[in-house]
Amino acid sequence: TSSGSGGLRTPIVAVLGHVDHGKTSLLDTIRGSAVTQGESGAITQHIGATAVPLDVISDIAGGLVDPDDFDLPGLLFIDTPGHHSFSTLRSRGGALADIAILVIDVKDGFQPQTIEALDILKRTQTPFVVAANKIDTIPGWNTQEDGPIQASLDAQSDRTRERLDERLYSLIGELSDNDISSDMYWQVRDFQHNAGLVPLSALTGEGIPDLLTVLMGLSQRYMKEEMEIDTTGPGSGTVLEVTEERGFGTTLDVVLYDGTIRTDDTIVVGATNRTIETDVRALLQPRVLSEIRTEKQFERTDELSAAAGVKIAAPDLDDAIAGAPVRVVRDQTLDSVTDEVEAELAEIAVETDENGIVVKADTLGSLEAIANTLQETDIPIVRAEVGDVAARDIAVASTADERQNRAILGFNVDVLSDAADRADHEDIRVFQDDVIYQLVEEYEEYVAEIER
Ligand code: GTP
Ligand code: MG
Repeated sequence: TSSGSGGLRTPIVAVLGHVDHGKTSLLDTIRGSAVTQGESGAITQHIGATAVPLDVISDIAGGLVDPDDFDLPGLLFIDTPGHHSFSTLRSRGGALADIAILVIDVKDGFQPQTIEALDILKRTQTPFVVAANKIDTIPGWNTQEDGPIQASLDAQSDRTRERLDERLYSLIGELSDNDISSDMYWQVRDFQHNAGLVPLSALTGEGIPDLLTVLMGLSQRYMKEEMEIDTTGPGSGTVLEVTEERGFGTTLDVVLYDGTIRTDDTIVVGATNRTIETDVRALLQPRVLSEIRTEKQFERTDELSAAAGVKIAAPDLDDAIAGAPVRVVRDQTLDSVTDEVEAELAEIAVETDENGIVVKADTLGSLEAIANTLQETDIPIVRAEVGDVAARDIAVASTADERQNRAILGFNVDVLSDAADRADHEDIRVFQDDVIYQLVEEYEEYVAEIER
């Protein structure tokens, strides 16, 4: 995906939606079609992402995308598991993703994580298209494998068409209930104010040509200027995950959205209440499938340019946190880069109150999202941190006098066993959920109960 200095970088596309609505299947099918069309070499698997170049998109979209009409190099898709907090997808000043696909199962409709995804897309003002997925499950569906949606629609009986339309209009209704005006993508003129719906099946591939066409069109039309970056400048990225890797210790899975990163670069990374400065020991990319039989899962690369997903191995990464910024130190001094990372961390940091509840979350972005929700509901927070619920969190909660403050909200985190014992002993209520508003609701119900 590197494209030399002053080039256009690849737009970053986040795939979001409720658990099991088909995000991974959608990307699998896009990867699969590229492979069947003999373009496997052209698709590159990144850490946490898949890069699909323009000519492959054009092949899959068959006639709908003419490469001559575009000068963006392709699309970089990031898969976000439904249980994982995609609010991690944050970069300086807002959303990491330039554009998003909100995947909704047509037979299931809106579900908790659909609403949560939509809230974050609205808050970060990320443009998105709705993939109305699993149309092949409509009773009587006559599949037109891998074709454009119009061919599929033409192949259905009137009754099946009606059944599909019912589902699609009910989705449009649910979107409207959530303050999003939308229509079938072919009816949408102004994509900045209306979300386009693309009916498709991740399983049979029908409608995927349309999805890719809409994404390319949107990116080209509205995002071209933002894609004009100095791809050779010092790299900037966001930590998606902090993981242990055999032979490498603690590593960072990072999406690089600006500039270049090289082996031996000095980087500054956000951690809890501090920054880490360290030197890149290795940049790792997944091996292509055919090579996976070799022992090593990753191959090393010396240099990568935005946009890309990469695993960074370096010393001292143990305290790094998901959602934190990563910056390469090259043209600037270490101090000024550290200041910038600190400023970014401060911007995400949650303001705490003298009395309130303890909040723990899996990433900085999700912590920020849950703190916003709590603040909107006037629930005070005494401590907000990334990480599992630990004994010291119970200790903080147990200093509270008011009963409603003797509580901990954990989003997408575990409760360490000594913490669980201590919570029992100290009579601290610990709430856990992987949907923010459900977590807050559970807590509110509890407060209502004790006030009764
Ligand atoms: P999480 O990562 O757990 O959030 O789920 P996901 O959104 O990635 O869903 P995934 O792609 O794993 O699909 C869930 C199930 O739905 C799998 O059994 C898929 O085979 C099935 N599925 C996905 N897309 C389609 C589709 O278009 N049609 C049909 N019939 N099944 C589908
Ligand atoms: Mg998945």
